[in-house]
Amino acid sequence: MILVTGGAGFIGANFVLDWLAVHDEPVINVDKLTYAGNLDNLASLQGDARHVFVQGDIGAPALINGLLNQHQPRAVVNFAAESHVDRSIHGPEDFIQTNVLGTFRLLEAVRGYWSGLDGSALDAPAKSKFRMLHVSTDEVYGSLAASEAAFTEQHRYEPNSPYSASKAASDHLVRAWHHTYGLPVLTTNCSNNYGPFHFPEKLIPLMVVQALAGKPLPVYGDGQQIRDWLYVKDHCSAIRRVLEAGTVGEVYNVGGWNEKPNLEIVHTICALLDELKPRADGASYATQIAFVNDRPGHDRRYAIDARKLERELGWKPAETFETGIRKTVHWYLDHPEWVARAQSGAYRDWLNTQYAPA
Ligand code: NAD
Ligand code: TYD
Repeated sequence: MILVTGGAGFIGANFVLDWLAVHDEPVINVDKLTYAGNLDNLASLQGDARHVFVQGDIGAPALINGLLNQHQPRAVVNFAAESHVDRSIHGPEDFIQTNVLGTFRLLEAVRGYWSGLDGSALDAPAKSKFRMLHVSTDEVYGSLAASEAAFTEQHRYEPNSPYSASKAASDHLVRAWHHTYGLPVLTTNCSNNYGPFHFPEKLIPLMVVQALAGKPLPVYGDGQQIRDWLYVKDHCSAIRRVLEAGTVGEVYNVGGWNEKPNLEIVHTICALLDELKPRADGASYATQIAFVNDRPGHDRRYAIDARKLERELGWKPAETFETGIRKTVHWYLDHPEWVARAQSGAYRDWLNTQYAPA
């Protein structure tokens, strides 16, 4: 049994689905179901006894303690977070609550369980095998100049957004709980993910759904900011590998060597849609591109050096950007009902207040 937090979100749900496709080991999935948590993502697991879903907050010690003691997981994988940079700019409080305080409370609950402080009695072999894997982001390293080498695990932390600062704080807490209390932690810092179940507020899914709806494709600033993209299933395989073979206390960067400027990504999506679902009027979806005001404090470039993970644990991504983005666009074309439900209600109201043309 493993305990996953945030497993109804984009990466967490992909992880749970992939885990149960390759393992028979059950998963207990704790998710608060914020606007970003979506049980539709887990619909294919209905009736599968290997998946136990619990709605709850990582910052609720009684709940987490109870689940740990009841299910005695051999590992905890922490995906739960507020994850969207733009939201962190408009309202940082939830980011501090979940990413900082929530991670702290989760660490304390896990420490109590692992050390026996809370009265649980993990035997010595279970205790030595136990791991807590904390899922984090390359954004903690800050922004790279065009001439700088990709982020290694030694790169200093220089977070610039409320989101990245809150994740950096969580990474530091995880590190400290290892150094101070000996908690057997692992941390992964991954580049931008894309793929199925990606909530349509992030660049790639937003562009697909806006394009299909005949709406403007809002590109921030000059569109020349660079992100390093990894297909979500490759992130999931990296997490499984680190959980299986990573050295306790170590940090592993995860990335696919796919640096792309945003505008190029948007043009690639438009070209795929032109091919797969041409507009009725014959024009390219690229005619919908609209340059809008830049994001405040917008990081210019992220790039991940994933050689440690490749060298030490033999992990490699299975997808190139070209294969992954084609799969992703296909997935959104094949799942209009998922998009409609994800876009309903409070989310749609929020989205409609965004993206005023420059
Ligand atoms: P997401 O926003 O899609 O999902 C987050 C999930 O966490 C949601 O299901 C939400 O309901 C849940 N959640 C939020 N607060 C919670 C709380 N207090 N208690 C329990 N559950 C809570 O995010 P994502 O893109 O799937 O990201 C997952 C993790 O991976 C995050 O920690 C994020 O920082 C990290 N990460 C994301 C990316 C990316 O490109 N999306 C890249 C690197 C790292
Ligand atoms: P996003 O998907 O929000 O991820 P992150 O900010 O965590 O990297 O954004 C990816 C890039 O795309 C980022 O440089 C901001 C840019 N962007 C746009 O240009 N337009 C948009 O509508 C969004 C959501 C993002």
